[in-house]
Amino acid sequence: MSLERESTINLGAGPSALPTSVLQESTKALLNFNGLGMGITEISHRSSAFQKVIRDAENDIRQLLSIPDDYAVLFLQGGGTEQFSAIVLNMLAAHAARNPSYEGTPPVDYLVTGSWSSKAMKEAQRLTKRVNMVADLRPSISDADVKITPPEQWALSPVEEAPVMLHYCDNETIGGFEMPSNIIQQLPEKYREQVPIVADCSSNILSRPIDIRAHAAIYFGVQKNIGPSGLAMAIVRRDLVVDSDKVSKPYVPSIPTSLLYKNAMDNGSLYNTPPMFPIYVSGLVFRDLVRLGGVTAAQQRAASRSEVVYGALLSYPALYRPVVQHAEYRSQMNITFRILDPATQQPSPELEASFAQYCSDRHIFNIKGHRSVGGLRASLYNAITQEQAETFANVTREFAKQHISS
Ligand SMILES: Cc1ncc(COP(=O)(O)O)c(C=O)c1O
Repeated sequence: MSLERESTINLGAGPSALPTSVLQESTKALLNFNGLGMGITEISHRSSAFQKVIRDAENDIRQLLSIPDDYAVLFLQGGGTEQFSAIVLNMLAAHAARNPSYEGTPPVDYLVTGSWSSKAMKEAQRLTKRVNMVADLRPSISDADVKITPPEQWALSPVEEAPVMLHYCDNETIGGFEMPSNIIQQLPEKYREQVPIVADCSSNILSRPIDIRAHAAIYFGVQKNIGPSGLAMAIVRRDLVVDSDKVSKPYVPSIPTSLLYKNAMDNGSLYNTPPMFPIYVSGLVFRDLVRLGGVTAAQQRAASRSEVVYGALLSYPALYRPVVQHAEYRSQMNITFRILDPATQQPSPELEASFAQYCSDRHIFNIKGHRSVGGLRASLYNAITQEQAETFANVTREFAKQHISS
């Protein structure tokens, strides 16, 4: 079966749908970029044409996220996973530079809210000795009767011990759990002021405003809300960008050159050959978002798409159950849900498989939950239109009518 792009809806969690207009422009640029007679992947990364691409992309994301000048914007490789390692190594070096008389090994705080923050923490455990899990919110997420532990009850490391950072994941792509945007403001004031706060924003970046100043760094792989896989970005406060070789502390390992933020910053992200095509496409997506009213407008569109889909699911509580039972923590990007056997009210993998088939018969694809958790997941990233969200919501209603009456 050969399908047309216009007649399919791709709700995949990543790599995921990108705006058609951006892909059309990219296709042309692959063959002949800016009338150079050569494609964007065929020119030197040191050419003035590519330098303009990367600088324009930086300027546009600076505008979109209101990134202050004292933050560096880094274009990196290795995806989100490599950032799990890079962030902890670079923040350890930053800690040593800020605390020259520190003795021993400082603690690194991690909040666990799902699979990705747990993976990030496990990577830190490989790289440093004192990792402190401040809270594990996973058991409460799917239980409506258990309150999500608020920041004042997290086991934060004492400020006196100079924690290296607090790391959290802003949106758990697998679980569908999204942090409320005021979460940092709820941390104790002294902690918030003194401890660098770092967020993995891989799956909700540019879907809502984020207070960059409240963070020491944020990072994200681009392949969900921005562009093709192969590019990760970090936005880091410049005073925390430090060469590990210049700090001599036993708890700071030498950082591989390709992971060293200082190296990327000092070389304008062009120390070695960068992922040129993903940078180019990401730049087009940034430009498109600016044209469409920036991140505030993107947030309104995201709210309206997800409202329609959650609305449809919640109208049939006997059949559909959102995985995240606490409404204020439900992701606007990754809507995770189970289909229940109407008789037993237990998740039914058979009904879920038949729902996935029902969707695919209607050209709605990639809605199976992550292989580690099962269930269903509809990802409504920025490139998904309101019309596509409504079509999906209508399909969930039709399916429900067929199964509840039978
Ligand atoms: C929130 C989050 N962090 C990190 C990653 C890992 O990214 P990558 O596959 O680029 O290594 C993912 C991937 O889906 C993710 O969703």
